[in-house]
Order: sequence, then C-alpha cells, then structure tokens
Amino acid sequence: MVKEAPATSLTAGDRRLIDAALAAREHAHAPWSRFKVGAAARFGKRIVAGCNIEFDVYGLTNCAERTAIFSAFAAGLARQPLTAIAVIADTPEPVCPCGACRQVMLECGGADLRVILANLRGDVHIVQMRDLLPGAFRLDPRTQGKSPSRRSASHKAGR
Ligand code: THU
Repeated sequence: MVKEAPATSLTAGDRRLIDAALAAREHAHAPWSRFKVGAAARFGKRIVAGCNIEFDVYGLTNCAERTAIFSAFAAGLARQPLTAIAVIADTPEPVCPCGACRQVMLECGGADLRVILANLRGDVHIVQMRDLLPGAFRLDPRTQGKSPSRRSASHKAGR
C-alpha cells in the first residue's frame, strides 16, 4: 500500500512496521472523534503495536503512539532500544504525532529515532525524532537527545 517515502527509501523493516500499525488501527476505540490511528514501535527485535483509545472524559484519551510505547513497558520490552516507530491514519498527508507523543517518543528513542509517518493512501514520510521535537524538555540536560539505554551508559561513565 506504500507509494512513496520522500525523505529516504523504505526498508523491509519499515514496511513491517507500517503493516503492524495498519493492523493495530483496526483496534482503535474512537467513539468521539471517529478518527482511528494505529502505531507500531520497534524495541530491539520486537514490534509492539498500539491504537488510540478515547473515553467520555475526553482528556483521558490515549494516542496510538503512546499506547504502543506504554504497552512495551508493560510487556517488559522497553529495556530494548526503541529504534523506529510508525504511525498511520486516514489523513490527506502522512499523519503527524501530537506534542505529548513527541515528548514520550524522544525520551524513549532519542533524537535518532526513525519516525515513519503514513496515511491510508500509501503516502509515507520518514523523519528523525530530532526534526519533530527540537529543543525538547529534559530533566537532566546531559540526557538531551539520548535514549534511556545510552543515558544510563553515560551516567555510569560519570558524564
Ligand atoms: N491521535 C493519535 O492517536 N495520535 C496522534 O498522533 C494524533 C491524535 C488520536 C487521539 C484522538 O483519539 C484522535 O486521534 C483525535 O485527536
């Protein structure tokens, strides 16, 4: 279903992530917005999928990207490096993650995280996390742009 990837070319792994995100989108619970989103994140060799979930109290909504990442934590997979995440929705252009998801994605995957934005028409745009959230907030400025595994490595090294 993929037509193009202007930023860089699609790998077989990218296609697997997009397919997993597309399948997860079918599980979206979006009775209020009717806007279904799917996401799939690669932690090490594993793929963890997520969908958006809405509630009558709208602020409790969870986006597809965060559902995928939180599910990886719950499954004990988030100690593996998060290297790529795909997100897909029925949008005219490849869908863009919201600000809350960008913060979570940056903290978990670092500035190099491969972010695959897609839509149902087969358009794909691939960006790096640093392009989506420059100047992100971090509690410890030494961790700027670093994923959690690299962060603990540099703490151990006393940097
Ligand atoms: N949504 C996502 O799941 N991911 C995004 O990146 C943007 C928005 C969801 C939240 C809500 O259920 C619906 O889309 C409309 O905002």
